[in-house]
Amino acid sequence: MISFQHISKTYQGKVKAVDDVSFEVHPGEIVGFIGPNGSGKTTSLKIMTGILQPDAGSVSIGGIDMLKYPMQAKRAIGYISDSPDQFLRLTGIEYLEFISDVYGVPLKHRKSRIEDLAEKFGLTDALPRQMVGYSHGMRQKMMVVGALVHDPDIWILDEPMTGLDPESAFLLKQMMREHADKGHAVLFSTHVLEVAEKLCDRVVIIRYGKLLYDGTLEQLPERRRADADKSLEEIFLELMNDEGL
Ligand SMILES: Nc1ncnc2c1ncn2[C@@H]1O[C@H](COP(=O)(O)OP(=O)(O)OP(=O)(O)O)[C@@H](O)[C@H]1O
Ligand SMILES: [Mg+2]
Repeated sequence: MISFQHISKTYQGKVKAVDDVSFEVHPGEIVGFIGPNGSGKTTSLKIMTGILQPDAGSVSIGGIDMLKYPMQAKRAIGYISDSPDQFLRLTGIEYLEFISDVYGVPLKHRKSRIEDLAEKFGLTDALPRQMVGYSHGMRQKMMVVGALVHDPDIWILDEPMTGLDPESAFLLKQMMREHADKGHAVLFSTHVLEVAEKLCDRVVIIRYGKLLYDGTLEQLPERRRADADKSLEEIFLELMNDEGL
């Protein structure tokens, strides 16, 4: 389970990126994190994964306090950041070996785990090549494989489908569902409302760093209006232009 409680974060200067946001992601759930550009999703996810320190609030991952025991808490997380342009001088296999070392993936499981994931995402032939020569989508796929190589319980994914071809996006969505169905928590940010609609058990919506909605998408139209014909996109756009719910 992910517990994110009363988190606030202001960047140097004065941008209050996250303002007293609280929500949870329970085992077996896929939660979509949505909100306009600059609303504080990436900042929240970086706080949740221990990359950024909050100014206030607490985070726990599988019951482990991220601020007190960051090493333990981080071990439980598979994180895909918002930028796939990392470690580009490494070859694909060097990157995955490096990540496996960091997370202490036992040597006897490592080879098959890397081979299986690379095969699934069609990266096998690319593994010996430097990632600087990969396309954007190939880099993104490598981030997906890198995030999952240590078989983490909790998945925290920042716009994971961006740049993926339809086959890989489908595969990742399927893997997210299977992972949640095994009783694990999955949180991902997205701008693609159709994906959120199809995949999520619940959505958390933020705007200007503040939590605007936490609930199921089915409940959202009911709370907005009786007109059930409105698309999620229409409801979402109205919501973003309103003062609140
Ligand atoms: N390193 C930084 N230094 C200063 N301000 C930052 C920094 N990173 C983000 N911000 C600001 O914090 C706010 C939230 O940004 P954040 O990246 O969390 O939004 P987001 O919801 O992930 O947006 P997007 O949908 O575009 O990815 C924005 O106002 C942004 O300008
Ligand atoms: Mg972002």
